[in-house]
Amino acid sequence: MVADVAMRILLTGGAGCLGSNLIEHWLPQGHEILVIDNFATGKREVVPPLQRLTVVEGSIADRALVDRTFAEFCPTHVVHSAAAYKDPTDWHEDAATNVTGMVNVVDAARACKASRLLNFQTVLCYGRPSMMPIPVEHPLRPFTSYGISKVAGEQYLSISGLPFASLRLANVTGPRLAIGPLPTFYKRLKAGQACFCTDAQRDFLDMSDFLAAVDLVMQNGAPTGTFNVSSGEGHSIKDVYDAVRDHLGLAPDPAVKVIPVGDDDVPAVVPDPTMTKSILGWTARISFTETIRRMLSWYDAHGVNDVYSHLSTTPQRAV
Ligand SMILES: NC(=O)c1ccc[n+]([C@@H]2O[C@H](COP(=O)([O-])OP(=O)(O)OC[C@H]3O[C@@H](n4cnc5c(N)ncnc54)[C@H](O)[C@@H]3O)[C@@H](O)[C@H]2O)c1
Repeated sequence: MVADVAMRILLTGGAGCLGSNLIEHWLPQGHEILVIDNFATGKREVVPPLQRLTVVEGSIADRALVDRTFAEFCPTHVVHSAAAYKDPTDWHEDAATNVTGMVNVVDAARACKASRLLNFQTVLCYGRPSMMPIPVEHPLRPFTSYGISKVAGEQYLSISGLPFASLRLANVTGPRLAIGPLPTFYKRLKAGQACFCTDAQRDFLDMSDFLAAVDLVMQNGAPTGTFNVSSGEGHSIKDVYDAVRDHLGLAPDPAVKVIPVGDDDVPAVVPDPTMTKSILGWTARISFTETIRRMLSWYDAHGVNDVYSHLSTTPQRAV
């Protein structure tokens, strides 16, 4: 499908899971895309040389690089998908990427008069929520390096004067997902390794539902602000474990160890998408069962390589 009006999209973190799915979604529509990525967690092979795709290797924490790249590319739209999280003890890197990097991106987007900036936020911004599902106006109480730095970044964005949308995302599940219980269980069970579950509950959102929400907020004139993008349904990590076993043809494992979540994690994270539905008219369409089935079929075809976590011990993550 070719879009009526081609966008010039500057995509930070384009070699990551969400970024690369966005590239696959937008390139066939005729949009021009420039990626800035330092490949901290992203993969070079997902941003191969392609027409209308330019890749700049470097960090968004490098102000001169960001200014120069924006000035040369002149984006109409900025999609900020770069984030640091892979070493929870590396506060310097989290702050450099998630705070300074955001400030650099915001400044450069303003300087080139981009019409819209789209940001992706972690639901860890809510900290340990006092209600479930979590409304978008719930107080922000991050307590990890990733959460704290991502909240600071979002708050700079909110005072930038730019037309922006910040999507607070449930666990988006789709091609190249390399974090959380799904790749962890799949990889370990395939290798005949033992697993344990935590008693956490998470909200899983299919990639196609994520892309539909992005399409809505990228339109010029679309509502701006902060939106929960989630199914609104919680599912336990044990449910995910059972689904992976079933998919791999393994017998149920009622005796699997289920432990309480660690100090750096949250027992339940289920963002409430009600406001998103009323403001954007967006709602998740793909069921939990189908979302998990699609993901596991993708792993059947492509395998699981590295699995990242921002947690010290547990096999799942609120992203
Ligand atoms: N995937 C989800 O379900 C989810 C949920 C909530 C929030 N998010 C947010 O969505 C965004 C994308 O997440 P993802 O799941 O694709 O993660 P990802 O790790 O796959 O992608 C992040 C990308 O940013 C790049 N990057 C890191 N530091 C950088 C730097 N300093 N300069 C340039 N590039 C840098 C990485 O190399 C990677 O390609 C992040 O902002 C994340 O906080 C994702």
